[in-house]
Amino acid sequence: MPEIVYLNGSLVPRSQARVSAFDHGFLYGYGLFETMRAYHGRIFRLDRHLQRLTDSAGILGMAAGLAGIDLGRACTDTLAANKLADARLRLTVSRGEVPSFPGVSNDTIPTVLVAATPYSPPPPAVYAQGYTAGMSRLRRQSRSVLSEIKSTSYLLSVLAKIEAERAGLDEALLLNERGLIAEGSTSNVFFVRGSGLVTPPVASGILPGVTRGVVMELARDLAIGVHEVDIKPDGMKQFEEAFLTNSVLEIMPLVSIRKADGETLTIGAGQPGKITRRLMDAYGELVERETSGKNG
Ligand SMILES: Cc1ncc(COP(=O)(O)O)c(C=O)c1O
Repeated sequence: MPEIVYLNGSLVPRSQARVSAFDHGFLYGYGLFETMRAYHGRIFRLDRHLQRLTDSAGILGMAAGLAGIDLGRACTDTLAANKLADARLRLTVSRGEVPSFPGVSNDTIPTVLVAATPYSPPPPAVYAQGYTAGMSRLRRQSRSVLSEIKSTSYLLSVLAKIEAERAGLDEALLLNERGLIAEGSTSNVFFVRGSGLVTPPVASGILPGVTRGVVMELARDLAIGVHEVDIKPDGMKQFEEAFLTNSVLEIMPLVSIRKADGETLTIGAGQPGKITRRLMDAYGELVERETSGKNG
């Protein structure tokens, strides 16, 4: 549990953090969030997370209210106040209290909350074994602008995750309304074919993950091709490796997928593949370079 949280300009003990019962985040799911990782007391790719949140705030008509707020400072101050080095941070912004049904009024004051909690990653054995996933019966919407933003209206992900957990699986994979692979409930998905990566395009109804972007950068540096293409569920059998990405898990090998018909598809040899492991190493090195302060 975080001890000190940032709420609307102040650092306060968690027990004193109170939000209005009439906040439109609570009433209508009218809000956004970012989940980030800090290493060595520094937030990895904070700028990318803030950019995504700011872009999304524009889509939701919340940009004006956030304009004067230094969200980056709020995040770093929260981390420092809790004296945390390795942490998970959650930045939440919501529309705040508005007297009427959500409208276009620009003069609302958003609610801004930052919480940081100590984080230790899953043990190496979990990464060595890899995750299992199941095809969800829920669908992402490729034509909805809401698919591309990380909003507090998060029920699709929550329900898909519950579905996977009930089936004894680690993650759920969602198709879009056209029946194409989109992403995990809280992660993006990559496959490996030959020496290149294959991943669904943003237009398939996915969240453009910060980690997804980092993996694509790393792949280019390592001369690993990246193909953003539509993937049919049937096409998954051709892949030799798969992995999931998000800011907290980083790169998690995906070793099997339970299909809608109940049959389990083993990916490649059923264990983390060579290219996945190369990218995991490169990700770890990049995090060290950018957060340890040893290289500039
Ligand atoms: C639906 C969904 N897709 C993808 C991701 C991965 O995003 P990121 O790499 O920015 O953490 C998340 C993160 O929680 C998510 O909720």
